[in-house]
Amino acid sequence: MSIPKITQEVKDITRIERIGAHSHIRGLGLDDSLTARASSQGMVGQRTARKSMGIVVHMAREGKIAGRAVLLAGPPGSGKTALAMGLAQALGSETPFVSIAGSEIFSLEMSKTEALTQAFRKSIGVQISEETEVVEGEVVEIQIDRPLDKGAAGAKTGKLTLKTTDMETVYDLGAKLIDNLQKEKVQSKDIITLDKATGKITKLGRSLGATGDFDAMGASTRFVQTPQGELQKRKEVSHTLSLHEIDVINSRSQGFLALFAGDTGEIKSEVREQIDLKVAGWREEGKATIHPGVLFIDEVHMLDIECFSFLNRALESDMAPILIMASNRGITRIRGTDYQAPHGVPLDLLDRTLIIATEPYSDEEISKILEIRCEEEDVAFTEKAKTLLTKICTTTSLRYAIQLITASSLVAQKRKAYEVDMIDLKKVYELFVDVKRSTQFLKDYQNEFMYNTQEEVDAQEDEAVATDNKSMDTTE
Ligand SMILES: Nc1ncnc2c1ncn2[C@@H]1O[C@H](COP(=O)(O)OP(=O)(O)O)[C@@H](O)[C@H]1O
Ligand SMILES: [Mg+2]
Repeated sequence: MSIPKITQEVKDITRIERIGAHSHIRGLGLDDSLTARASSQGMVGQRTARKSMGIVVHMAREGKIAGRAVLLAGPPGSGKTALAMGLAQALGSETPFVSIAGSEIFSLEMSKTEALTQAFRKSIGVQISEETEVVEGEVVEIQIDRPLDKGAAGAKTGKLTLKTTDMETVYDLGAKLIDNLQKEKVQSKDIITLDKATGKITKLGRSLGATGDFDAMGASTRFVQTPQGELQKRKEVSHTLSLHEIDVINSRSQGFLALFAGDTGEIKSEVREQIDLKVAGWREEGKATIHPGVLFIDEVHMLDIECFSFLNRALESDMAPILIMASNRGITRIRGTDYQAPHGVPLDLLDRTLIIATEPYSDEEISKILEIRCEEEDVAFTEKAKTLLTKICTTTSLRYAIQLITASSLVAQKRKAYEVDMIDLKKVYELFVDVKRSTQFLKDYQNEFMYNTQEEVDAQEDEAVATDNKSMDTTE
């Protein structure tokens, strides 16, 4: 009965795979000399900015100098977030990349600075290495004795024969090891590693000598050489945790389960101090290496003056990651003050920041980006429709045009066409208005009802502001 249920679950999981706004971006599209290719890894144009981001990748890889800050500044839809996503891909899975939006900091559960501290510490990886004794070899035979009397406690025993090219040994198996072997579905001719301390079994692959047995192979079967020399070895194993994860595991009030619940609350500063000391100790002993990552704060103008001053300070720590910020604001008020500053970021922070400007795209670049998006969303356009979409994009915005891709494909499906044509595109263009037309519509609407509504709206707005202030004063 339970088997059909499981297959259903598997199906559901594969169906969930969704396409995000930046899913077409697979890197920065740079060559070895850091020059941006015209179109590569889903990235188009914006070459200077991409080149600069390539240098940031190198800064992160080197990881020697802490506390670098970079600001991506440019108009909406010029690819700032896309560049950050490309950077994350280019860094690879080893380097931590943490992405937050400026407004996320303002949560009720913790203070702004705690939220920022957690974000900072999430983006610092600590690689801890240990030496353990392992047994590594090719499985010759697994023999499990089934006791006749099932009631006998701990009766499961067995023998495991492992070999290298030079030797062969028989090991006695206890119940735990038998369970582990069965869990990993180990069979003869597998190459395995057995951690002596923990009993953990890792399958490295199939023996090259088993290439003839086609019956037991999946597409992902890996073939490896039978190990040489001794069966017992000392092996270095390493795992990487973020500083934040170490904090959570060690803060007694929450315990490590909080990692899965995501509900970590505030972490005491004493805990953090102790952990910093501990990690420094490990580094001296050569047990741990620090991998500073990247913290990306999108819409950074949403932070207020307190957050900015915190950032200034935090960047001075030798455990600081590379900070990348993005903003589409011009000269505007710094949140929490009455002062204006470029991008809404205080000058003292800007002063220590490398600024990368993103420029609006040319028509050619736009049509290339749209083409890539069509491919990503699995929608086919006729040539004429493609030209029209590019035209729509130049008069409206890149984001609006991207939205039209799926919408128009749904309209095309309705008339049972495989390709989106001009009529489908025209239809959705009429159905969904862009910002310009929407504003125009509001203006027209105002003109028609000029005498009463405008004043009414003003009065309502005043009232809303007044009640807002009141509720702030009383803080219910
Ligand atoms: N150079 C580019 N190459 C490919 N796709 C891009 C590029 N620039 C922007 N895009 C895509 O266009 C859309 C809008 O860009 P986005 O990065 O969100 O702009 P911003 O963050 O500057 O407002 C996104 O779907 C993004 O992936
Ligand atoms: Mg953005």
